[in-house]
Amino acid sequence: MRKLTVILTILAVFVAFQSSVFSQNKYIGKKGCVMCHSTEKAGKQGDIWQKSKHSQAYITLTTDKAKEIAKAKGIANPAEAKECLECHTLGKTVDASLLDSKFDIKEGVQCETCHGPGSGYKSMPVMKDKAKAIAAGLTDFKDPATIEAYCRTCHNEKSPTFKDFVFKERWELIKHPIPKSE
Ligand code: HEC
Ligand code: HEC
Ligand code: HEC
Ligand code: HEC
Repeated sequence: MRKLTVILTILAVFVAFQSSVFSQNKYIGKKGCVMCHSTEKAGKQGDIWQKSKHSQAYITLTTDKAKEIAKAKGIANPAEAKECLECHTLGKTVDASLLDSKFDIKEGVQCETCHGPGSGYKSMPVMKDKAKAIAAGLTDFKDPATIEAYCRTCHNEKSPTFKDFVFKERWELIKHPIPKSE
């Protein structure tokens, strides 16, 4: 009997592990987020992001300035080069199989670049429960230090136009809090 319990426990742990690690969450694209995150009450994250430079990050790679920077590095087309796309879209090279058919890299540095692939956490019951959302793939930014470190995975000297990065100042330009209900 005890042996059976042990086997069942191992099996249960294995199944749980499999579903969390092997059922890969997919990137659904910003449209799948802003449908809920655009109202006044939610905090208009969609509008704030759209007005930020992150929404233009891919478009930037199609400009003459980008082409000039790329040319100096022997890159013909920055909008197709991994060396530029890795910071101007998802922040890392993601296997194409993890991109939902609706995902559009032209939208630049999108919600899921920072918040993690959303297919698992995008539903209302999961979103309303932070712990569940994190278990389903939402990035857990534990404290400001974790956030700054994450920004610096792109805002660093590998960026051809890098000058400096003062977290507090830059965060002010992109922050998008949920309004506190009084
Ligand atoms: C079906 C509607 C819906 C969709 C779709 C949705 N969200 Fe949410 N989201 C919510 C609600 C509701 C909350 C909870 C708001 C609150 O606590 O006031 C939330 C909370 C969040 C939070 C804060 C979590 C916390 O508690 O710290 C983040 C971050 C977030 N959503 C990101 C996203 C991203 C990124 C996407 C797209 C991949 C997305 N959401 C899609 C409804 C949605
Ligand atoms: C995936 C890479 C990536 C990550 C992660 C990232 N950024 Fe950016 N960020 C960019 C790119 C690329 C641009 C330039 C977009 C353009 O001008 O086309 C940019 C531009 C900006 C700008 C506007 C330009 C400026 O210097 O005023 C601000 C502000 C900014 N980011 C803040 C942040 C903050 C704060 C974080 C962390 C919460 C962050 N970024 C995380 C890639 C990233
Ligand atoms: C390590 C991440 C990273 C890589 C790799 C990267 N960029 Fe950027 N890029 C950024 C960030 C972050 C910004 C925002 C400005 C800043 O702080 O450097 C930016 C801004 C820019 C800008 C706007 C600068 C301005 O002031 O108008 C251009 C153009 C650009 N990048 C072109 C490129 C090209 C072309 C490549 C590939 C050869 C490339 N970037 C590779 C992160 C990166
Ligand atoms: C450059 C990275 C970045 C991008 C792009 C981004 N976010 Fe965030 N977002 C963050 C960080 C960092 C926080 C703060 C997390 C914390 O304090 O725990 C945050 C917080 C939030 C919150 C919770 C705010 C609160 O008050 O608790 C919501 C909701 C959210 N983001 C939704 C979105 C949506 C929707 C998009 C796209 C339209 C988006 N974010 C784009 C980095 C980003």
